[in-house]
Amino acid sequence: MFETLEALSPDAILGLTAAFRDDPRAQKIDLGVGVYRDEQGNTPILKTVTEAEKRRFATETTKTYIGPPGTPGFNALVRKLMFGGNHAVLKDKRVAGVQTPGGCGALRMGAELIKRARPDATIWVSDPTWANHVPLLGSAGIKIETYPYYDKQTRGLNTEAMLAALAKVPSGDLVLFHGCCHNPSGVDPQRADWQEIAKICSERGLTPYIDLAYQGLGDSLDDDAMGLRIMADACPELLVASSYSKNFGLYRERVGALQIVTKTSAEVSKVQSQIDSVVRTSYSMPPAHGAALVEIILGDEALNVAWVKELDEMRERINGLRDVLAERLAAATGQDFSFIQKQRGMFSFLGISPEQVTRLQKECGIYMVGSSRINVAGINNANLEYFLESCARVLK
Ligand SMILES: Cc1ncc(COP(=O)(O)O)c(C=O)c1O
Repeated sequence: MFETLEALSPDAILGLTAAFRDDPRAQKIDLGVGVYRDEQGNTPILKTVTEAEKRRFATETTKTYIGPPGTPGFNALVRKLMFGGNHAVLKDKRVAGVQTPGGCGALRMGAELIKRARPDATIWVSDPTWANHVPLLGSAGIKIETYPYYDKQTRGLNTEAMLAALAKVPSGDLVLFHGCCHNPSGVDPQRADWQEIAKICSERGLTPYIDLAYQGLGDSLDDDAMGLRIMADACPELLVASSYSKNFGLYRERVGALQIVTKTSAEVSKVQSQIDSVVRTSYSMPPAHGAALVEIILGDEALNVAWVKELDEMRERINGLRDVLAERLAAATGQDFSFIQKQRGMFSFLGISPEQVTRLQKECGIYMVGSSRINVAGINNANLEYFLESCARVLK
């Protein structure tokens, strides 16, 4: 039977990781894959996660099934984190939701639900967007289109073109937004932009689908949820796919959530039954362990405070590196890199040509995605000078 299949080329980013691993050069630098790295180049287990694991092992009494939606405690706590404790959608009990295997699981389950509710709808995604968005959402059988987002000239948001394009999206379609820390560009809408976007979505009857994979890694937990909260104020219906891979460092545990805001509280049980069924007919139930850790941390005042501190440290390291890179890259190459300082999250485009990306990899062992997307957190004091020297050599 398998003779009918053709071999596929490896996923671009995962392929880059493998190429980096096999590179024997000692000075090589991995700026490809999107995981946080500390000053030592490690992706550490958070101290609060280790403490939560101890508590979990001490109190866990069963490994029985947890059911398609995951635990009510986890869903309630992540809703509070994304919407803020006092948001009207929570007070009005207008949210259905499920715990999912990572943000990817949430994005895909959301797409499957959309397929059931509005099979002919199109999901509009930003140009560019995270490389896995189109395959993940499109595999549910949904049509995908793009709207302009990144301006290559200003290295910022192409506000005018984006708003003009959104104003033409057919009523009833969905629009995917990155809640914060846009992947791959690092360019986020500002408050006024979100208000404009929300106005267009509510006036045209577009449903926002928000991917919140980096909450807390841009400016703060609340600031990074600003866009999503503005959208939830303005639009009667909304989907949020969140990931706890990055902000809790729980990548391989696969923790995420899909939360769905409905027009009225009366609709919640119907929508919950549908999303439960979507889950039941795909992976049946989410993994329990990682989500249990998030539930323990968010549900305990002292652990919560300690986690926010750990998250602040990760964010401050990234934003500190952004300041250093903007200044030192300009000095090394004579070119303007001030945009790196203004952008947020783990990623920025260096804005160099594909040939320069290839030369950096081949000649210097510096690995980044072909679009010149770098993971800022891959830089540290030990590799900074070599990175600058290499950029000076290739870019000058
Ligand atoms: C924009 C974006 N959304 C969603 C995800 C999914 O994250 P995960 O499934 O690992 O939780 C990622 C991961 O890199 C991402 O960058």
